[in-house]
Amino acid sequence: MGAEIDGIDLAKPVDDTTFAGLRDALHRHHVLIIRGQRLEADKFLAFASRFGRPEPHVLDQYHHPVWPEILMLSNVRRDDQPIGLADGGTYWHSDYSYLEVPARATLLYSITVPKSGGDTLFADQARAYADLDDATKARIDDLRALHLYGNRDDLDPVSRLQAHPLAADQQARNAIRVITHPLVRRHPVTGRKALYAVSGTSIGIEGMDDAEALDLLRELAAFSTQPRYQFRVKYGIGDVVVWDNASVLHSATLTDPGDARTLLRITTKEAARP
Ligand code: SIN
Repeated sequence: MGAEIDGIDLAKPVDDTTFAGLRDALHRHHVLIIRGQRLEADKFLAFASRFGRPEPHVLDQYHHPVWPEILMLSNVRRDDQPIGLADGGTYWHSDYSYLEVPARATLLYSITVPKSGGDTLFADQARAYADLDDATKARIDDLRALHLYGNRDDLDPVSRLQAHPLAADQQARNAIRVITHPLVRRHPVTGRKALYAVSGTSIGIEGMDDAEALDLLRELAAFSTQPRYQFRVKYGIGDVVVWDNASVLHSATLTDPGDARTLLRITTKEAARP
């Protein structure tokens, strides 16, 4: 998992052949890192849009001032107001797994890098699924998990591991409710099976008693996020990172609030409901 691509300038139009190569690399390696770019927000948006339709984040107070498709991830405050979302998910999750049509690729573009911390962690859910024993695969292959916005494992409103709360109007606008997704998903392009969002928004399993469902989800999450399935991205200024939400879980790492970290984030949607 994880491939670094060089020799490409994303400020210039990316031709179709080059883009097809990037897409193939994403499907093979799940996470791409393209370092040292110099991008205006509109150029970043143009590149991200090649992966799918960008979907503005439900936390609309942190949208980029010009481009709502861009979420500002930042712990910087100006005039005592945050200029972005300080922690974009400091727990294992897959983006937009709480929506009926979840995320395809997410892209980050790093603007300010903290002196320490601020890495993003990824866990390979396709490899973890492949390593499960046959009995477990047979048990989980046809299950559907229940999802709801939030971090199942930390609902404490003062914890930095809690998902950022949604206001009532944001919940209504985005039709936030319990929805279901396959627990094991076939990748929409490659068809490869992977565990899907076993951590984060998954709060139960259709037709299964809650205690049994949570035990199973926790067991799968513990298995699939072991260090041997993990990959860590350390940012330099101008790095673009792209990940495939159908194949990985990811987690931000906590950053000291006084150590500035700012990235632009764009998330594109799947073409259809899984
Ligand atoms: C995210 O969870 O989408 C952001 C990851 C990060 O801030 O490192």
